[in-house]
Amino acid sequence: MIYTKNIPDVYNLIEYDIVDSTMITLKELVKEGAKVGTIVSAKKQYNGRGRHGRKWISPEGNLYFSFLRQAENKKFKNVFAPVFITAVALAETISLISKKKILPILKWPNDVLINNSKVAGILIESFNNNGSDLLNIGVGINIKSNPTNTIYSATNLYNENIEVPREVVLNFFFNCLYATEQIFLSQGIKEIFRLWLSYSYKVGTKIGVKIGENRIEGSFNGLDSDGSLLLVKDSGEELTILTGDIFYYD
Ligand code: BTN
Repeated sequence: MIYTKNIPDVYNLIEYDIVDSTMITLKELVKEGAKVGTIVSAKKQYNGRGRHGRKWISPEGNLYFSFLRQAENKKFKNVFAPVFITAVALAETISLISKKKILPILKWPNDVLINNSKVAGILIESFNNNGSDLLNIGVGINIKSNPTNTIYSATNLYNENIEVPREVVLNFFFNCLYATEQIFLSQGIKEIFRLWLSYSYKVGTKIGVKIGENRIEGSFNGLDSDGSLLLVKDSGEELTILTGDIFYYD
């Protein structure tokens, strides 16, 4: 049972009480020589960042961490693999800690929802250090509280009757991440997409995509070979979506 395991030793956890953002602290540690697998976690962040330049309000009680991963080689066209691997690991984590009572839903590309409300988010920033392409992958999981003034409805694990300490959630996540990385290495991106789709909405679900001020409506048609979202408009035209905020209606 994963619960009793330590974080796999390919990772190196560094814990802080308060930081501006774990994204910043991790990047600073890289300049000082931190290696792939370094995890920075904090009890609280003054300036937590979300996707699309949004803030990630970070009071004590929730889980905030960033970890350093090698970027995928662009030649193999799996550059988006880390997004999906991380999202699958998060979904698995929540499923396991709820003893499979809760089936989280993944919203493209990497939001985690419970009962249509966001419980966790992932922010990935790429950078180069001494010629090496690296990813700073930040994860926020609402354990005891969630923001209320968000464009999506939000929830937290306690609210969903999952009362698990943040340290245990962190431990589960890195065990799930390690296992998912192994699946990627042995079975490739197709298997990761299959797992991701098993946690996502069904093909045919009505969706809207907000890109800037534009909104496109249609139905979810799975992922293309790169991981882009496929949307079929009512006219039958299929669009490949590379970015945007997705809304589901079913
Ligand atoms: C999103 O907008 O859904 C992504 C949120 C990512 C938040 C996490 S919390 C830990 C890490 N540090 C940050 O400042 N942001 C990420």
